[in-house]
Formats: sequence, structure tokens, C-alpha cells
Amino acid sequence: MWGAWVDSLGMRSVELSGLVAVITGGASGLGLATAERLVGQGASAVLLDMPTSNGEEQAKKLGKSCAFAPTDVTSEKDVQAALALAKEKFGRVDVAVNCAGIAVALKTYNVKRNQAHTLEDFQRVINVNLIGTFNVIRLVAGEMGQNEPDQEGQRGIIINTASVAAYEGQVGQAAYSASKGGIVGMTLPIARDLAPMGIRVITIAPGKPIPSLPHLGLGGIHGQLRGEAKQQQPSSIPGHREALQVGLGRGGDRVNMKARAGL
Ligand SMILES: NC(=O)c1ccc[n+]([C@@H]2O[C@H](COP(=O)([O-])OP(=O)(O)OC[C@H]3O[C@@H](n4cnc5c(N)ncnc54)[C@H](O)[C@@H]3O)[C@@H](O)[C@H]2O)c1
Repeated sequence: MWGAWVDSLGMRSVELSGLVAVITGGASGLGLATAERLVGQGASAVLLDMPTSNGEEQAKKLGKSCAFAPTDVTSEKDVQAALALAKEKFGRVDVAVNCAGIAVALKTYNVKRNQAHTLEDFQRVINVNLIGTFNVIRLVAGEMGQNEPDQEGQRGIIINTASVAAYEGQVGQAAYSASKGGIVGMTLPIARDLAPMGIRVITIAPGKPIPSLPHLGLGGIHGQLRGEAKQQQPSSIPGHREALQVGLGRGGDRVNMKARAGL
């Protein structure tokens, strides 16, 4: 299944042709770029994204090897239906990439407004980013477990998306950092749970902002957050300082810029 080769730089690459992937958040940004790459290299992909997203249109653009499954990752029913679609159209699931995510930029307590971070916002971010990721993992594992193992005993791979904010969140990122820290924290136990099934589990933690998350409705306190974020110590994590500067430096839609800066 995963015929590997070593390229001219000595890097181990993986043959993607023929693999079947499900990609959450696949209608936009990182998820869509992942789908384009996989389909471009001969894999099939099902984009799992909100019914309100333009996943249908993006899947059509990618052609016959791609399909859209309207899915809220927090819903068991939706994710099961998406996996059934993947199986019906492409026969199995080898790869799951969890990219669906949302963010808010809210302080734990806003002194100027005399206002606490709403619990609803905190719960919403945890629900989509952390619980949604776990929901997909737990259900896709059953699907992958039905695959014939390759010569190395592997049946599939699950890739999750955390963020540098899991390790070094900024002002206003309590909910987002908690959600991404949760993804980091659950990676090892889940990998240990699924290893006997031949399913690998990894998590990436991007640090540099990709110009995305365009649709987020982040209310409120961005001017204030800008000032405070600028005063913080630059991170030792490569790319993070640049991320903050890029995000804070742009004009225009400052609300969304702040979200990008913190990612
Ligand atoms: N953009 C960055 O710089 C950056 C940096 C670090 C980490 N990340 C993480 O990478 C992932 C992708 O980010 P992006 O920049 O591509 O964002 P994006 O907004 O372009 O894509 C996120 C997608 O998730 C979908 N989504 C939201 N809630 C959903 C739900 N409940 N069910 C299904 N789909 C849902 C959205 O519709 C959207 O298409 C996110 O988890 C984000 O936190 C991004």
C-alpha cells in the first residue's frame, strides 16, 4: 500500500497513488491544499466540511478522484455518513487528515469591558477543534481497521493539525491553545491505542500563518490585543515571530488578521 522510495536528496518519500484520504476542513486552506496535493499525486480524496462551505465546488474542480461530504466534525452521524461515502465511492479509507478548525481571539477577562471570556466561545472552540478531531479519529479507526495490512503491517495513517499555539499561545488564545494542546496531548495515547491495529497517528503543529481562516467571526478586542501581543517576548519557535508580525502588520480586515497572527 505505501510503496516507499528514497529520492535524490536521500529523503524517504511515500507513494501516494491509489490511496484514499478523508480530509476534514477540506474545502479551504490547509485541508484543500492537502487534497490538491494528494489528488495531484494520484490519490482519491473526500472533503469533509460544513454544508455551508464551498466543498462541493472544490471537489468538482479536483475531478473524479474527489468528492464532497457535507460534515460537521462534531457530529457522529455526519462523520459516519462521510466515511460511508468514501467507502462507496473509493472502496476504503487509508488516510485521514484532520484540518477542520476554528479560532476566537478573546481575553480570559477583558478589564476595559469588564467582561469575562464567554463560556460558550470556549466550549465551541474545544468542541470543533478537539472533540471534532477525536470524533473523526475514533470513527475512522474502525474503517481503517478493515483494510488489509501492507507488508509492514500498516493499515492506515491519521494526521492531526495542532498549532504552535499548543505550546506558546498568545494573548486572547486561551480557547484555541487549549484545543490545540488537547490534540497534542491525546496524540500519544491514541497512537498507542491504534498501533496494534497498524494505524499510525501523528500531529503537526504549524507555526507560520497561511493566509486562511478567512471566514471567522472574531468579535471584539483586537486593537487592544494588538498592543499587548506586540509587547510579548518573541517565541523561540522558528517562524512564530514572523507569524505574529505578518498577522499584525496587515491592514484591512483586522479581525481576521488577529486570528491568523495567533495561529
Ligand atoms: N492558517 C494557519 O496559519 C494555521 C497555523 C497553525 C494551525 N492551523 C490549523 O490548521 C487547520 C486549518 O487551518 P486553515 O488556516 O486552513 O483554516 P481554514 O479556515 O481555511 O479552514 C478550516 C476549515 O474547517 C472548516 N470547519 C470549521 N468548522 C468545522 C466543523 N465543525 N466541521 C467541519 N469543518 C469545519 C471550515 O469550513 C474551513 O473550511 C486549523 O485546524 C487551524 O487551527 C492553521
